[in-house]
Amino acid sequence: MASCKAPHCVLLVYLFLSFACQCFAIGVDADSSVLLVDASEASGRPIPDTLFGIFFEEINHAGAGGLWAELVSNRGFEAGGPNVPSNIDPWAIIGDESVLNVSTDRSSLFERNKIALRLDVLCDSKGPNACPAGGVGVYNPGYWGMNIERGKTYKLVLYVRSLGSVDITVLLTDSSGQKLAAANIIASASEVSDWKKLEIPLEALGTSHNARLQLTTTRKGVIWFDQVSLMPLDTYKGHGFRKDIFQMLANLKPRFLRFPGGCFVEGDWLRNAFRWKDTVGPWEERPGHFGDVWLYWTDDALGYYEFLQLSEDLGALPVWVFNNGVSHHDEVVSSVVKPFVQEALDGIEFARGPPDSKWGSLRASMGHPEPFDLRYVAIGNEDCGKKNYRGNYLKFYAAIKRDYPDIKIISNCDGSNKPLDHPADLYDFHIYTTANDIFSKNHRFDNVPRKGPKAFVSEYAVNDKRDAGRGSFLAALAEAGFLIGLERNSDVVDMVSYAPLFVNENDQRWNPDAIVFNSSSLYGTPSYWVLRFFTESSGATLLKSVLQTNFSSSLVASAISWKNSENDKDYIRIKVVNYGSNTMNLKISVDELENSIQASGSNKTVLISTNLLEENSFSEPDKVVPQQSPLENAAAKMDVVLPPRSLTSFDLLKGPSYIRITGADSFSRSSI
Ligand code: AHR
Repeated sequence: MASCKAPHCVLLVYLFLSFACQCFAIGVDADSSVLLVDASEASGRPIPDTLFGIFFEEINHAGAGGLWAELVSNRGFEAGGPNVPSNIDPWAIIGDESVLNVSTDRSSLFERNKIALRLDVLCDSKGPNACPAGGVGVYNPGYWGMNIERGKTYKLVLYVRSLGSVDITVLLTDSSGQKLAAANIIASASEVSDWKKLEIPLEALGTSHNARLQLTTTRKGVIWFDQVSLMPLDTYKGHGFRKDIFQMLANLKPRFLRFPGGCFVEGDWLRNAFRWKDTVGPWEERPGHFGDVWLYWTDDALGYYEFLQLSEDLGALPVWVFNNGVSHHDEVVSSVVKPFVQEALDGIEFARGPPDSKWGSLRASMGHPEPFDLRYVAIGNEDCGKKNYRGNYLKFYAAIKRDYPDIKIISNCDGSNKPLDHPADLYDFHIYTTANDIFSKNHRFDNVPRKGPKAFVSEYAVNDKRDAGRGSFLAALAEAGFLIGLERNSDVVDMVSYAPLFVNENDQRWNPDAIVFNSSSLYGTPSYWVLRFFTESSGATLLKSVLQTNFSSSLVASAISWKNSENDKDYIRIKVVNYGSNTMNLKISVDELENSIQASGSNKTVLISTNLLEENSFSEPDKVVPQQSPLENAAAKMDVVLPPRSLTSFDLLKGPSYIRITGADSFSRSSI
């Protein structure tokens, strides 16, 4: 709309108001409201292609033990850091100290993660010192149980070394010890006197969602293990993403992926922040790190490359958030922040550089010679108030714009209240609050300056415990009102994402979250299902609409026109939240100008619940999900009933066109 010339604007406003006045003549009683929609594309406004996306943070075991399909937890025995003895949790020992000694040492083949596991097996296959039946060794329960499914194949990779010959039994078992898959590692002393990499396919003969990987022996000797990985072969495109979780994301049709945090990027201390260079290259060589904000170890298998790949697989633009030399508790002063700036520049080169560039060649060697489509970076997360943020930011900004002028840079400072005191393409905006507050904030961007950097609402959610529970209908409904407000203000709001996206039910560090999972199942909270109402908004046209109501504090609506790429048909989608506790009658009047509405093919989708605090769960994943039904009375003018506390979307199928004959009272009908 910014490009629309003034005289045209005046004319359009006049036309729209006169259309509005005609409709008031329909007669609005005190109980009913009227929504006037101007369906002409010309008076609408394009919604940014990027409006709705997702924000992935390594929080709640979103990646490690979640989206990333690795089944072994702490596969390199590195979770205790570089010191020995190290923390081998959750590996557990089979056999007591009379038959087995388990320790760690720094004998690994891999320079950046030196810790390996050492087993001193004291018992033997026979004789007075015979090992217990079943042998001695270690097992890994994965992330609260491995999901092993009958008929599927799992690829075991491990590194082994020994002072003598080995005879090791590899088992996948359920929690009662029942065998699901088995293999033997038999090697002579000379074959394993140096580290040897083994790759073993394991086909499951049974199913357990709580399985474990067991490595045992009955032969006396000393054995070392390192980098033990178990991956299902069946991941999305073989890229390592757990398929059911990936699909939940794909169904949102996200246009961008912000990653990898959040506070995860900052770290409580800089030494524990996510550093991209430690997360690329062969997985065995990645050191991993302890995320000290969300308090768990990640081996960084889901690293910078994998995030870029995930974005590409989802058809979403990557938005890389990097550390700017600021953590929760320590900061680098601007005069020495240059190495951090260089690290960010190298990261951009890794994503976008030609395959013969220094960092682009590493990307190419990992399997992606083509550049990734990195167009957005965020300098830090929630660091605006910090002492060195502005000084550091300016250095990053200057260097990135110098080398990559097209890259859009996101500032941590809120530009919605007052203009930023530094250059930026977008500013980050986070909101966690109560249901009533977020609903009322559907007007939050109505009056922000229309010029200057746009808003990236990269984190929003109702998180007040009384309203949100563990992901309630009430929270979702209020968020829907907020999102409608953002959609209506999409001339100044460019990007929007909910936070946090994921939680593994076994380690909830933040509540609530959009997608809840365990080793084998998952469900969306109502907040997830609200996002499904907005999947067609990015890149659609926002139609001019006016809501005439006495209930403006509880009713909010928007209208878009969009094309369904699956059937190539055009629709108008009207979304309305009735946040109040009364049924509302709404007269919808679409000034179709050129298009008629077809009842057949139009439909209505409602998100509603009898209990405001209703939640979905593993046992009832579909308790609060959208319900779709045909909209039999679909027409340009229709009376609809909005149940109390509901979100409704009306998808009106545009049919054959009407062409207005200038100067005539009537319309003549034609096909497009
Ligand atoms: O989304 C959870 C956390 O909330 C994010 O890490 C942080 O950016 C915000 O404070």
